[in-house]
Amino acid sequence: MADGPSGSGKGSLALRIARHFGFHLLDSGAIYRLAALKSLRQGVDLADEKAVAKVLNDFSIRFVEGDELSIPYLDDEDVSSQIRLETTGDAASQIAQYPSVRKLLLERQQQCFQPPGLVADGRDMGTVVFPNARIKFFLYASPEIRAQRRHKQLISMGISASIAQLESEISERDERDRNRSESPLVASTDALVVDSSLLDLNQVTELMISHIEKVNQNRPL
Ligand code: C5P
Repeated sequence: MADGPSGSGKGSLALRIARHFGFHLLDSGAIYRLAALKSLRQGVDLADEKAVAKVLNDFSIRFVEGDELSIPYLDDEDVSSQIRLETTGDAASQIAQYPSVRKLLLERQQQCFQPPGLVADGRDMGTVVFPNARIKFFLYASPEIRAQRRHKQLISMGISASIAQLESEISERDERDRNRSESPLVASTDALVVDSSLLDLNQVTELMISHIEKVNQNRPL
């Protein structure tokens, strides 16, 4: 399980680790983003928990394995680029504060656990959704580095963005994720905390794989 703030690299790392071990992958943030997109499209007031939860009672999503990443569908429409917009991420963080929304999305996430195993990335994978996970990581990176990474990611998807604005949006979103009362962004006490600010993707991947192999040697399945 890999938790951490946005831009900490957890998404790319979770994908690499899942591929390395042949495990399934759960991008739990995508589920929150799909829920946010649904709410935005229905025009509900995001400040109204009851109205948001009502919309999400009838909520059809699925992920289809693509060549690179899995493709998210909302009500049978491919919404890959829409869910990556900052407006969707911000709306996701707003509705993610609500206990009723988290409850509605919890089971969908837990159902993703399938043999031979799952790599899940998010904010509360190790603390709430999969508290009994065998191995947990909490990934961290400085806000400046995270804004630069997000910028690169958006540009590669053809979405323009300003680094300064991204940094302030990321900090605002983190603040909300850390301070909410329900499933706040916090490292599980049994997670290995990895600061990826000064490491590249390959270095962090190697560090994580070697930790997983060490745990597996010392504690065989
Ligand atoms: O990881 P990503 O940036 O796609 O997540 C979007 C938002 O969804 C986060 O800012 C957070 O508020 C929410 N989220 C959450 N719990 C998760 C995954 C995402 O609250 N497990």
